[in-house]
Amino acid sequence: MKIWKMSIFTIIITISIIFGYLNLCNQEKYDWRKMAKNEITLPEPRRKSNVSLEEAIAKRRSIRDFKDEAIGIEEVSQLLWSAQGITDNVNKFRTAPSAGALYPLEVYIVIRRVKDLDPGVYKYLPHQHKLVFIKEGDISTKLVREALWQDWIAKSSIIIVISAIFERTTVKYGKRGIQYVYMEAGHSAQNVCLQAVTLGFGTTTVGAFNDEGIKQLLNMKEEEIPIYILPIGIPK
Ligand SMILES: Cc1cc2nc3c(=O)[nH]c(=O)nc-3n(C[C@H](O)[C@H](O)[C@H](O)COP(=O)(O)O)c2cc1C
Repeated sequence: MKIWKMSIFTIIITISIIFGYLNLCNQEKYDWRKMAKNEITLPEPRRKSNVSLEEAIAKRRSIRDFKDEAIGIEEVSQLLWSAQGITDNVNKFRTAPSAGALYPLEVYIVIRRVKDLDPGVYKYLPHQHKLVFIKEGDISTKLVREALWQDWIAKSSIIIVISAIFERTTVKYGKRGIQYVYMEAGHSAQNVCLQAVTLGFGTTTVGAFNDEGIKQLLNMKEEEIPIYILPIGIPK
């Protein structure tokens, strides 16, 4: 009887330790939310440009060859703002339209060559116009592997990745919400493409990649799905 009780007790303790460990791993993965010291406030984006919208539309082309040069943090700020920045401080509306203003999109940036920013993965926080550090190091080679070996991606200075939490939209619009989310990713990506032109940069919208691989590489949440990859750099 005593041995039987001891065995049950040991099993309960072992299960608790395993669950405790798994929980710790999970927390570690998303701890960046609380790490204020790892936040980078981005410079205020500008609202004027010497390049007209018509010129940007006419010039936009998919660019896959980049110079081996660093870009500035002001330009990073501008590109991220164009993707999902806040443009209405009262209603918190953003640069791209969103069905029911439910904003299912998340924006990440893989830094390769940016002056004053260490290579790594960061997440964009639209409300604070900040970057939050996720992981360090240049992950572009791993990203190339997950993007079906499109090796030109690793020549870019930065890589913007747009993902979505579909539930935010489908909770209101049901199955139709799935289409809305993809439409929104298109709006956001087009903003980035045109903004890149105004800055003298080039980009290509990449849709061919392994969802699960990209998700893991960027420490995305379980319910998040990557939609678009935009490698950006100075055209050769
Ligand atoms: C949804 C979508 C997915 C795409 N995926 C890729 C891709 O994985 N790799 C790539 O090199 N180009 C990709 N492209 C870019 C197209 O190849 C490109 O837009 C097309 O050749 C037209 O050229 P343009 O963008 O210069 O007008 C994609 C474009 C779209 C709209």
